[in-house]
Amino acid sequence: MSKISNSQMNISRRTLLKALLALGVSGSALTAPFINNLHASTQNKILKKIPSSGEMIPVIGFGTSRTFDALGDDELMLQLKVVLQSFFNGDGVLVDSSPMYGTAQAVIGKLLKQIKGTENLFSATKVWTYGERDGIEQMEESRKLWGVKRFDLMQIHNLRDWQVHYETLKKMKEEGKIRYIGVTTSHGRFHEELEVLLATLPFDFVQLSYNIANRDVEEYLLPIALDNGIAVIANRPYQRGDLFRKVRGKALPKWANDIDVNSWGQFFLKFIVSHPAVTCAIPATSKVKHLLDNMVAQVGQLPDAKMRKKMIYHFQNL
Ligand SMILES: NC(=O)c1ccc[n+]([C@@H]2O[C@H](COP(=O)([O-])OP(=O)(O)OC[C@H]3O[C@@H](n4cnc5c(N)ncnc54)[C@H](OP(=O)(O)O)[C@@H]3O)[C@@H](O)[C@H]2O)c1
Repeated sequence: MSKISNSQMNISRRTLLKALLALGVSGSALTAPFINNLHASTQNKILKKIPSSGEMIPVIGFGTSRTFDALGDDELMLQLKVVLQSFFNGDGVLVDSSPMYGTAQAVIGKLLKQIKGTENLFSATKVWTYGERDGIEQMEESRKLWGVKRFDLMQIHNLRDWQVHYETLKKMKEEGKIRYIGVTTSHGRFHEELEVLLATLPFDFVQLSYNIANRDVEEYLLPIALDNGIAVIANRPYQRGDLFRKVRGKALPKWANDIDVNSWGQFFLKFIVSHPAVTCAIPATSKVKHLLDNMVAQVGQLPDAKMRKKMIYHFQNL
């Protein structure tokens, strides 16, 4: 087993252990060597820069569409508590949501109050309505649901009424009510309009769909973001889980070890976050074992340009 694989195991152990501790399970495994290894694993974490500020964030964030629409289901809420606790235990920071995701924001707010180590939370949500007044009211409602003083990132969801919301967000940023302004799309929608927005307005972030099976944004949007110093959040990193169906029953290539990848999930995530324009990917999950798998993608080697081509070729010829 390689050196990095060892540290990957440590980050998983640590994350799992802390999640178990949060649930009141005995912590007899918390020995000194374990804590030393844990420190080493944190040092290996891959961070990327938000171009407009220079702030560094980990390359794996946390999506909440569908998976966190769980209010009223106590058993699922307990499961999601462990998932979110594990994310923070693994030094995750960026959590993405939207008023569009049913009860997800209320669930985030409830769980943030119950778990530990959330001081570095990077809160990202969206405005998804028409009109200035409704936009302001919706953002305030979201803030109360999350229970945060202010959002780090407010994104205009699917470009909806962007002319109006952009002006509001500019003012909010000037007043210190948010730190960053973003705009989102997904499934390849509104790309031409988005190209114009990114080329002409000083957005801090853009969120779009990008994964190994859906690389449309490589042609125009990612280069524009790179040229204009706009951070990129990749949504639908697993094509809503479809990518796993394609690789079911297929072994990883042996050379995946060279980039410290030991699961298909890590293969897909490392492909995304190794693009020079991409700042982070935001996989969504309701399962702690998947969360742990995803968090391992933020340590070890990232593929270079040659390896990225090899990954695409391999995936296309499965
Ligand atoms: N327009 C927009 O702004 C927009 C649009 C789409 C998405 N988004 C954001 O992007 C986030 C991610 O996109 P998404 O939720 O559509 O899809 P996704 O992250 O591509 O896929 C989620 C699915 O993958 C499964 N999964 C996660 N980790 C796994 C692992 N390691 N191994 C196996 N299966 C795994 C999850 O199932 P389990 O629960 O069983 O793990 C879930 O069904 C959203 O949650 C949302 O925050 C934004």
